[in-house]
Amino acid sequence: MAEKNGAPLDIGSTYRLQSGHDIPVMGFGVYQTPAADCEDLVHHAISVGYRHVDSARAYRNEAGCARGIAPGSPAKRVPRSALFFTTKVHPRAMSYASARADVEATLAGCPELEGYVDLYLLHAPYGGMQARLGAWQALVEAVGEGKVRSIGVSNYGVHHLEELEAYMEGRKQRGEEGGMLSVNQVELHPWLARDDVVRWCRDRGVVLEAYSPLVRATRNDDPLLVPLSKKHNKTTAQILLRWSLQKGFVPLPKTVSKARIEENANVFDFELDADDMAKLDTGSYEPCTWDPTVSRD
Ligand SMILES: NC(=O)c1ccc[n+]([C@@H]2O[C@H](COP(=O)([O-])OP(=O)(O)OC[C@H]3O[C@@H](n4cnc5c(N)ncnc54)[C@H](OP(=O)(O)O)[C@@H]3O)[C@@H](O)[C@H]2O)c1
Repeated sequence: MAEKNGAPLDIGSTYRLQSGHDIPVMGFGVYQTPAADCEDLVHHAISVGYRHVDSARAYRNEAGCARGIAPGSPAKRVPRSALFFTTKVHPRAMSYASARADVEATLAGCPELEGYVDLYLLHAPYGGMQARLGAWQALVEAVGEGKVRSIGVSNYGVHHLEELEAYMEGRKQRGEEGGMLSVNQVELHPWLARDDVVRWCRDRGVVLEAYSPLVRATRNDDPLLVPLSKKHNKTTAQILLRWSLQKGFVPLPKTVSKARIEENANVFDFELDADDMAKLDTGSYEPCTWDPTVSRD
């Protein structure tokens, strides 16, 4: 069931993060969305009910996305406090100094964020332990300075998560601020259900965000999905998003089409039953993009 406290989810539903802030249950992904198109597309997404945008330093479109959350006259806007903006430290420049610089650059380039980012993630566990932990500490400090509300990681495998947990625990024991891990954002869909990472996060109350929840449109005609699409009178993309929500993940579908923005939001009026969910339990390991969770540097 995709529900919270017994009530069905809708696009305005949220989960409580360990930071104490709330995250909307579905986000609008913008990887590879041209910067020039982001303002219009994000604005459209918000107008049909999305409250959450997932950008990154590496996507080079933060500024357009931020303009999209604050278009037109203030009276017609969804208030900043009702919107959730995520971005990520650049994966190829992980260090304490670069993470601090990334936070500053985001805020300087996006005045519409009104001085804070809702969720800042480490984009990938690259650069070695010192780089990972240094970048994490920079995000911890940004929270202390009020520039960021919640922090998390992306593409972290269990061994990366355990390294971070040991670091946070060590700081806590010494009476130092080590931060609160709110989110791990990883590729998740029926062909990559990542039971180990999911269990680790669930056991600790870390919310899982599902990237590439549509398997990058590579499975639109898949024989597992087509019968479910017919049964529920929904598209195969909508079946995938429903699977993600019913798993308790926060899916981040990306599209440059306004019609598909609406289609992807229209997934809160049907339910996959236990048999449907079992059919989508493939046990596969088939990433459709990079998989830094397995990196060992
Ligand atoms: N942290 C990370 O390392 C990481 C990695 C990848 C992604 N992400 C995040 O997750 C988001 C989503 O992942 P993703 O962009 O890799 O892939 P995705 O959302 O699984 O798939 C996007 C693809 O599906 C198509 N599509 C969207 N809606 C559709 C629909 N209703 N019917 C048919 N096709 C549809 C899109 O084409 P059109 O655009 O032409 O509609 C695009 O080709 C990203 O935008 C980003 O925010 C994070």
